[in-house]
Amino acid sequence: MQKNKVLVTGGTGYIGSHTVVELQNNGFEVVIVDNLSNSDIKVVDRIQKISGKRPAFENFDLCDAKKTKDFFKKHSDIKAVVHFAAYKAVGESVLNPLKYYHNNLVALINLLHAMGENNVSNFVFSSSCTVYGQPDELPVTESSPIKEANSPYGYTKQVSEKIIRDTTSANNFFKAIALRYFNPIGAHESALIGELPLGVPNNLVPFITQTAIGLREQLSVFGNDYNTPDGTCIRDYIHVVDLAKSHVIAIKRLLQNNNIKDFEFFNIGTGKGNSVLEVINAFEKVSEQKLNYKITNKREGDVEKIYADTKYANSELGWKAEKTIDDALLSAWNWEMYYRNNLENKK
Ligand code: UD1
Repeated sequence: MQKNKVLVTGGTGYIGSHTVVELQNNGFEVVIVDNLSNSDIKVVDRIQKISGKRPAFENFDLCDAKKTKDFFKKHSDIKAVVHFAAYKAVGESVLNPLKYYHNNLVALINLLHAMGENNVSNFVFSSSCTVYGQPDELPVTESSPIKEANSPYGYTKQVSEKIIRDTTSANNFFKAIALRYFNPIGAHESALIGELPLGVPNNLVPFITQTAIGLREQLSVFGNDYNTPDGTCIRDYIHVVDLAKSHVIAIKRLLQNNNIKDFEFFNIGTGKGNSVLEVINAFEKVSEQKLNYKITNKREGDVEKIYADTKYANSELGWKAEKTIDDALLSAWNWEMYYRNNLENKK
C-alpha cells in the first residue's frame, strides 16, 4: 500500500524531529523542509537511526515564495503538512519584532498559497498557549478568551491562527488543526535527538542542562516576586514525545475524518502547573546534580502563570500526556550528556 506523504516544515528542529520519528513509526512517508537556521543537518541521520527510515530533506526558506511553489510542484503527492518552521524566542521577539512578524507570517502565507495551488488540503499548525496571553482563569480551556499577547512572538501565533481560520472558511476544501502547545521539554529516549538551540538557549530546560554540564556558568531565574506560591512563574511542562504523538493523531484525524470542522484547535499540555523553582528542584533530584542558579530581574514578555485544561484534547482527539515532568527532565539530562560526550565529538 502506498504511504501517505507528509511535509514537515522545521522537521530538523526540536519538536519537528520528534514528530518526524513518530510519523515514520506510524507508517507515514515524510519530507522535511528546513533552512537549518536553528538546527543541524545531522538530525536527519539520527532520525534514521531511531526509526530505521530516512526522511527526505530539502534545505530552503519558506519565506521564498518561488522555492515554496516549486517544492509543491515537485512533490505533488503530498497529502498533509505539519508546519513547525518559525522563530520562537519570546525575549528576542520583544527586541526584534519585525524579524518575527516577517519570518513567521510570510512563511505561513507562502505555504498556504502553495498548498492551495496544489490542492493539498490538510494542515496541522504548531501553535502555542502563548495565544491566550495571561488568562484570567486557570486552567485555560480552548474557549478561554484570547487576550492581548505578551510578546510579538505571541502575536505571530495569534495572527497565524487567524490567517488559517480565514483561509479554511474561504476555501471549502481546506481543513486545519492548530495544536496549542504548552511548554515542551525532554528528549527522545534514545538520547539521539533533543533540544539543541544554536547559541545561548532561551528556554529554561536547555539552559538548565547546559549549566549542569558546565557549558554555562549560572542559570538566571527570571523573577521571584510573581503572584505564585514561590514567586516564580508557573508553566505546564509537557514531554516532547507526548507532544509529537499529538501530531500523528491530528494528521490521521484530518485524513480519515470528513465530518470535522474546517478549523479546530486543541490544548496540548499535561494539565499541571510547575514553578521555575519546582523544575529546578525536580531536575536536581533526577539528575543528582547541584544546579548553580540565582534570582535575577523579570524577563520582558513573560506571563505569570499558565497551565492547560486538556479535557477537550483528551475526549475529542483521544490524546493524553503520559509522561511525567521527572521523565522529561531525566530524558533532557540524558540527551545533554550523550550529546556532549558522544555526538558532539563526532562533528
Ligand atoms: C513560551 C511560550 C510557549 C512556547 C515557548 C517557545 C508562553 C506562556 N509560553 O514559553 O508556548 O512554546 O515560548 O519558546 O508564552 N526561565 C528562567 N530562566 C531562563 C529561561 C527561562 O527563569 O534562563 C523561566 C521563564 O521566565 C519562564 C519559564 O522559565 O517562567 C519557561 O521559560 P521558557 O522555557 O523560555 O518558555 P516560555 O517563555 O514559558
